[in-house]
Amino acid sequence: MLDRQTLASWKNLVKLAEEKKSQHMNDLFSADENRFAKFSIELPKMLLDYSKNLIDSETMQALVALAKECDLENWRSKMFAGEKINSTEDRAVLHTALRGSVSEKLQVNGENISQQVNQQLEKMSEFVEKVRQGQWLGYSGKRITDIVNIGVGGSNLGPQMVTEALKQYSDHSVNVHYVSNVDGAQIAEILRPLEPEKVLFIVSSKTFTTTETMINAKTAINWLTAASFDEKSVAKHFVAVTANVENAMSLGIKQENIFTMWDWVGGRFSLWSAIGLAVALDLGFDKFEQLLAGANVMDNHFKSATLEHNMPVIMALLSVWNTTFLGAKSQAILPYDQTLHMLAAYLQQAEMESNGKSVNWEGKEIGYATVPSIWGELGINGQHAFYQYLHQSNNVVPADFIGSVASVTPVKGHHKTLMANFFAQTQALMTGVNEQQVREDLKAKGRTQDYIDKVAPHKVHKGNRPTNTLLLKRIDPHSLGQLIALYEHKIFVQGIILQICSFDQWGVELGKGLAANIEQELETGSVAVTHDCSTKQLMNYYLNAQ
Ligand code: F6P
Repeated sequence: MLDRQTLASWKNLVKLAEEKKSQHMNDLFSADENRFAKFSIELPKMLLDYSKNLIDSETMQALVALAKECDLENWRSKMFAGEKINSTEDRAVLHTALRGSVSEKLQVNGENISQQVNQQLEKMSEFVEKVRQGQWLGYSGKRITDIVNIGVGGSNLGPQMVTEALKQYSDHSVNVHYVSNVDGAQIAEILRPLEPEKVLFIVSSKTFTTTETMINAKTAINWLTAASFDEKSVAKHFVAVTANVENAMSLGIKQENIFTMWDWVGGRFSLWSAIGLAVALDLGFDKFEQLLAGANVMDNHFKSATLEHNMPVIMALLSVWNTTFLGAKSQAILPYDQTLHMLAAYLQQAEMESNGKSVNWEGKEIGYATVPSIWGELGINGQHAFYQYLHQSNNVVPADFIGSVASVTPVKGHHKTLMANFFAQTQALMTGVNEQQVREDLKAKGRTQDYIDKVAPHKVHKGNRPTNTLLLKRIDPHSLGQLIALYEHKIFVQGIILQICSFDQWGVELGKGLAANIEQELETGSVAVTHDCSTKQLMNYYLNAQ
C-alpha cells in the first residue's frame, strides 16, 4: 500500500499549500468575477458555495487529482457493492442500502440486503401505524401517549437530532423523549411527569451490551413494574432495536417486538434503520420515508456526479486541504436554523468517531494531520459567544455555515435578521478589515489621534478565514435526509483520502474497560494499588467523601 505522502498529487498539494498560504481571498475575489460560479454546486434543494476558501482552479484540480490517485471512484463503488471495506471488523458498509441505494440483488453473507431492509421497513410501518392510531395498548388497556427512546451515541444522536430538526412536522400523535446519559438525573427528569401505563420504551442498542443503555433500560423496567405490579407488562411497554436478539429477549422483550440491525450498518450511520423508530413514531411513516428518499437523492448524486461537481467529494477535499495541507486544527459547524440545534453534536460523533484516528489501513502511524475536531453552535447564539475567536484569534477555524431560504416557523421580522447575519458573517470572515480601513473609519467618526492609535490594532480583522455556505430551500424531511447523507459521504471520502479505517471505533474501548473495573472497586470500596497516583487519590477522595 502506497503511503499517501508518496503520491505525485500529494506532493504537488504540499507545494501548492506552501505557495498559496500567503494569498488573501480578497485578492482572489478581485481577480476573478466568476469565482462563485466556479466554486459552487447547486442541487434541487440546496446550494453549496465554497468560493470563500483559500483555493483557486489550480488547487481544486490538484485536490481532484489526489482523489483520483487515491482511487476514490473505485472505493465508492466498493462501498455501494457491499465489499467489506470496514477491514478491521471485516464488515460491509451499507447504510446506503437502508434508503434503497444499492442493487436489489445485492447479497451479503448469503442474504439479500434489500429484502431484509424492506421486511424491517414493513414491520416498522405496521408498528408505527398501530401505536399512532392508538391500537397498541398498555397493560391497563390505555393507548400509548409517550415514547421514550433509550440509547446512546449512534443509537441516540441521529434520531434525536432528526426529531428536533423536524419538530414542526410532528402531529403530536405521541410525544417522543430521549434518554442517553447514565446520569440518573436525565431519566428521572424525563419519567417524572409520565404515566407508566401510557409509555412505550424503545431500547436502541446495536450490541445490546452498552452498559449505560442497559442500566437505563433496567431503571425503566423497574419504574414500569413498580406501577403495574406485573413483570409481564414489560412485553407491552418495551420494544428493542438491536442486532443482539438474545440479549433483548433476556430483558423480557418479546421476539416479535424486536427490530433488526445488521453488522453492515455502523451505529453512527444507523438513523435510517429501525434506530430511527422514534422519528417514525413522531412524524408518521410517510415522513420517515421522505427522509430516506432525501438521503437516496444524495446517494445518487454522490454515485454519479463527476468528482469536480460532487458535493460530498468537494467538501471532503476542502477539509483535507484546510486541515492536512494548511494546518487548521478544528472545524466549526454553524447552523443558522434553530431546527438544526443538535447538528454539531451529531456531526461530532459522525466525523470524529469515524476519522479521529492516527494509524492508516495497515496500522502504520500516519505522518500527516487527519481530521479536525468538530464543534459548533447555532448561528446567532455563537455570534455572541465565540465568534470573537473565529474572527480574531491566531487559530484559523474553517466553518460550515448552514442556513435555510425559508423558515419552517416563520415569525414576522425574524428570518431576514437571521439571514442578514448569516451572509454578513462569512463575508466578514473572508474580507476582514485592515488597519488602514480601521483608522480611516475611526477618523471619519471624529475620534482623536490618541484614541485611534490605541484602539486601531485591536479592531483589525485579518480575514481570509475559510467558510463553506450550505443554503437549503427549507428544512423538511427530504432536505434533511440529503443534508445528513451529504456529511456521511464527506466523511467516507475523507477516510479514503487519509487512509483511515472510518468504520470502526476502537478508541472508545480502553476507557470502557477501565470503567468496568473501577465501578467494581467503587462498589467494594477498595481501590486497586495498580492505578496511577492521580486516579487512586481521586477515587479515594470520592469514597471518603461519601
Ligand atoms: O461507545 C461508542 C459506541 O460504540 C458508538 O459507536 C455507538 O454508536 C454507541 O457506542 C452505542 O452503541 P450501541 O448501539 O451498541 O449501544
